[in-house]
Amino acid sequence: LSRVLVITGASSGLGRALALRAAQSGDNLVLIARRESLLREVALECKNAVALVGSVADEPIWKAAVQAVRQLEGDEIILVNNAGIARFGSFHDQDFNTWREQMDTNLLGAMGLTHALIPAMLERGAGRVVNILSIVLKTALPGTAGYTASKAGLEAMSRALSAEYRKQGITFTNIYPGASNTSIWDAQQGHPPRDQMIPEDSLADTIHQALQTPRDRVIEELVITPPLGIL
Ligand SMILES: NC(=O)c1ccc[n+]([C@@H]2O[C@H](COP(=O)([O-])OP(=O)(O)OC[C@H]3O[C@@H](n4cnc5c(N)ncnc54)[C@H](OP(=O)(O)O)[C@@H]3O)[C@@H](O)[C@H]2O)c1
Repeated sequence: LSRVLVITGASSGLGRALALRAAQSGDNLVLIARRESLLREVALECKNAVALVGSVADEPIWKAAVQAVRQLEGDEIILVNNAGIARFGSFHDQDFNTWREQMDTNLLGAMGLTHALIPAMLERGAGRVVNILSIVLKTALPGTAGYTASKAGLEAMSRALSAEYRKQGITFTNIYPGASNTSIWDAQQGHPPRDQMIPEDSLADTIHQALQTPRDRVIEELVITPPLGIL
């Protein structure tokens, strides 16, 4: 069965690892991120991948994604909303721009791309939307208010869309990863020990397995933590 897999945020971290893993199983890939040279390197390594350079928060990339998937063979279209930014810090010390930035990428970008791709999913009668959310939606963590709000919006949107589209062959999966050792932590002031986090390839491997779930069942939620739990 051939499928079209759209992965946002494929230039580094989990998205990159997932793209490389998925390329081995023969899916046709559409990869999206802003850092052109990194993204093109990943696409080259995947071989069966189209690279679309741009921000998920901007409308042109949504249109480019629709054009790209229409040109690819596949019985099913799968969108992995993985692109995300984290601006952790005390709520008092943050300002409106910090929250807006996270909302634009983590929530509105994913929402715009989902909206753009649903018609192509309906045409093929089969689609999946998989959202990379976070463990912060299961256990409240200080310093994450803006990030948590953006991820909660995407979670809520997907639950509503699941009810709206399940009879038309589109399913929604919310994934809640705990700390994973990716570059997202590079910019954070303090963070848990990296050697206790889930290695990014291991997290990608589990998410890739979830993507292989046959269409006679749906994983609606998937919580994945390091063996030590919430770090
Ligand atoms: N690592 C963890 O502990 C952890 C835990 C729970 C959830 N998550 C979530 O996992 C996802 C992947 O993060 P990661 O840990 O792999 O971090 P990462 O290495 O920083 O990767 C983030 C990816 O998102 C892309 N991105 C950011 N803003 C974008 C935009 N406006 N448009 C397009 N692409 C954008 C980045 O590419 P460009 O900069 O090239 O655009 C990069 O490829 C995120 O949604 C994150 O919230 C991570």
